[in-house]
Parts: sequence; C-alpha cells; structure tokens
Amino acid sequence: MAVVKDIETETRIRIVAVGDVHLRIDTPPAIDRSLHEAAADADLVLLTGDLTDNGRLPEVEKLAGLLSGIEAPTYAVLGNHDRRSLRRREFRRVLESGGVALLDGDSTVVTVTNGVRIGLVGIGGYGGGFWPDEAPDLLSTRLSQAVAVRARREAVRLEAALDALALEDTDLTIVTMHYAPTTSTLGLEPMLKHWMLGNSILGRVVDRHDVTLVVHGHAHLGNYEGATPGGTPVRNVALPVVGRPAVIEVDADGTVHDIVPSPDAIAIEASRVARATDSP
Ligand SMILES: [Fe+2]
Ligand SMILES: [Fe+2]
Repeated sequence: MAVVKDIETETRIRIVAVGDVHLRIDTPPAIDRSLHEAAADADLVLLTGDLTDNGRLPEVEKLAGLLSGIEAPTYAVLGNHDRRSLRRREFRRVLESGGVALLDGDSTVVTVTNGVRIGLVGIGGYGGGFWPDEAPDLLSTRLSQAVAVRARREAVRLEAALDALALEDTDLTIVTMHYAPTTSTLGLEPMLKHWMLGNSILGRVVDRHDVTLVVHGHAHLGNYEGATPGGTPVRNVALPVVGRPAVIEVDADGTVHDIVPSPDAIAIEASRVARATDSP
C-alpha cells in the first residue's frame, strides 16, 4: 500500500539546536552520542555558542572531532567563553574543519532536502539588560555605557543581517544568537544578573522583521520556552537547561513544534519557574 504523506509533514523541517557545551579537554563531552543521534535525521544543526570552556585550540579541536560525521548543515555562533580565544582566526579554521560554518553577524540561505528555503542569521549578541522592562541603574555608569555601546553595535549588525536576508526568497527565517533577546527564557536566573544575559534591543530588532524562531543559550539557569515582546518564538537551548540537544520542527508556514523537550516537559518546567518566581 502506498504511503500517503500529508503536505504539512512534507514541508516540515527538523532543527537540532544546542549551546553551552563548555567543552574542556580534561572532561568527556556531555553530548557526544545524543548529538549524533539527534542530528541523524535533522535538516539543520544550530550551535548557540559557549561550545568551548576557554576558547583554547585543543578544546575546539576536540569539538571539531565530536562534530565530524554530522551530515546536516551545521552553523554556530560564538559565546563569551569561545571569545576567550587568543587565536580567533585559527579557532574558526578548526571549527570549519569539523564541518561547522561560523556566523558572526552574517546571513545565509540553506535549502533543505524537501526544498524549504531557510534564511539563517547568526550573531553573538551581548548583554545590557532589558530596560525599560527592568531598571537600568544596576550598573555603574561607566560600565553600563561600555556595555550599551557593544550591545547597540551587535543590534545594528543583527538588523543589517536581517535586512540583507529580507531581499532573499526564503520560506522561514531563523536567528541563532548566544545572548537572550527576552527575559521570558531567563527562568531562575537572578534579576541582578539579567544585564549580563542579554538585552531588549535584540528582541526589538527581531520584532521589526519577519522572524520565525530565535534560538539562544548563555542563560544556564533559564527556561526553554519563551517569546519576544512581539510574539516571535524564542527557545533557550543551553545544555544545562534542556539536558540534551533540543529538537524543534517548523512547518513551512512558520508553526513551531517542540519535540525535545516535549510539550509536557515544557509545561512542568514553566510551572516550576512560576512557583519559584511567584514566591514572596
Ligand atoms: Fe555558557
Ligand atoms: Fe555564555
């Protein structure tokens, strides 16, 4: 009997996303098998930064070895721990030798096997906080000015990359970043640390464009599911949050389906966060 595939399934894409692996040379990687298993039937693998613990070349060499053999197109952004690298060009070269393309304020279009054209933007992002939702006076003036300058620069680069992508013929637009564009995925992170974890300008830039999904990491105590103020779905795929690579499916019309973690696991996590943050 012929297998009839419904049209939605045919145009659905499968993304595997993970960040904050913090790979060190003296400890075994926490994701080796789970990443390869998840990536085996993925259309796209997205790595949201802090892939290494100190940006050292032996760490990125170990990472490249771990990633080699993954056939799905694989893209990464740098996290603050990767940026500790003193040999950034070599870091990138080694990463690329493992089949990973680094996106640093860049956009690209990936056509997956079922013909869906995915516009991808990748950028590290930066901290700065979530003013006006949260008070801006948590930092010394000099530090906050330095952070604000860099935060704005990253937001300008994100805007330029999304503007460039808007000229392309794509079905979906996915943004990968390290820092968070919203507080809705910061979960149990203390509010005093929010300025280190992301900023609201990134979220506003996302909301000015037709973005299907944002994946980020960096907030280890955060929660998985959130959205920008404008309603763009955001997922915090930091390994300490999900415990394994996240698996997300997206229909060609932009509907997002969470596979790993499951909707049940997401609901349990949401009630745990709500209980913890509601307590007086
Ligand atoms: Fe991290
Ligand atoms: Fe980080």
